Amino acid sequence: MDLVLFGPPGAGKGTQAKLLIERMNLVQLSTGDLMRAERASGSDLGKRFDEYMSAGKLVPDDLVLELVEKAVASAPAGKGIIFDGFPRTVPQAEAVDAMLSRLGRKITRVVALEVALDDIVDRIGGRRVCQDCGQVYHVRYNPPPADGKCGGCGGGNVIQRKDDNETVVTKRYQEYKAYTEAVLDYYSKQGIAKSLDGVGALEEVYERIRAALGSQG
Ligand code: AP5
Repeated sequence: MDLVLFGPPGAGKGTQAKLLIERMNLVQLSTGDLMRAERASGSDLGKRFDEYMSAGKLVPDDLVLELVEKAVASAPAGKGIIFDGFPRTVPQAEAVDAMLSRLGRKITRVVALEVALDDIVDRIGGRRVCQDCGQVYHVRYNPPPADGKCGGCGGGNVIQRKDDNETVVTKRYQEYKAYTEAVLDYYSKQGIAKSLDGVGALEEVYERIRAALGSQG
């Protein structure tokens, strides 16, 4: 099973993807994480990503698709992929369908997490992430250990993302409304999209996702 975790910035896609990969036969493919890793490497490609990400704008489709094609090709055999933060435009959705079809794979479920803008601003303002292992925290709802070390890997690199400020989050949300929401219609027409309430305790939201996946997990 390949699936898409869909939703606005801060909806909980990354948090829920981490729970799903711990408990199901799945790997996570987060385009945001891949781009941040490329940026951290200091490569020319990473610098191009940074221009867009720092401004809260979507990275152009051709650059995103090149990255995704490589990541899909190196995904472990026998595991389903959770696409997290991808596809974000209809052309990306069309391209990944074609790419997966060439590999004999298919997206069979799209789970959309619905969260209101006020909650998004609150969540993103309090988000902290481990730069070493990607573990996601929130200063109130899921705080990192008091010693500043990551509970996931024990590293000392729990930080606030540089695009997690109000101006950039507002732009990211505008981009979501302008380009990404239409992707849900694209999958609804295929009959594979399911929207659910993304507000509640982490385990409650997880159980809703698990129910939406049904026997597909
Ligand atoms: P990306 O990294 O994908 O960011 P995003 O989609 O904006 O999503 P976030 O990572 O902000 O949120 P999330 O839904 O994963 O929420 P999380 O679980 O962390 O993209 C960044 C940038 O990269 C984009 O702006 C763009 O420039 C570029 N990019 C990436 N992919 C692209 C693509 N395909 N095409 C073009 N450009 C692309 O949770 C948020 C917070 O809430 C955390 O603190 C968490 O602890 C907390 N939380 C989670 N669940 C709950 C809950 N149930 N209750 C309370 N708090 C909760």
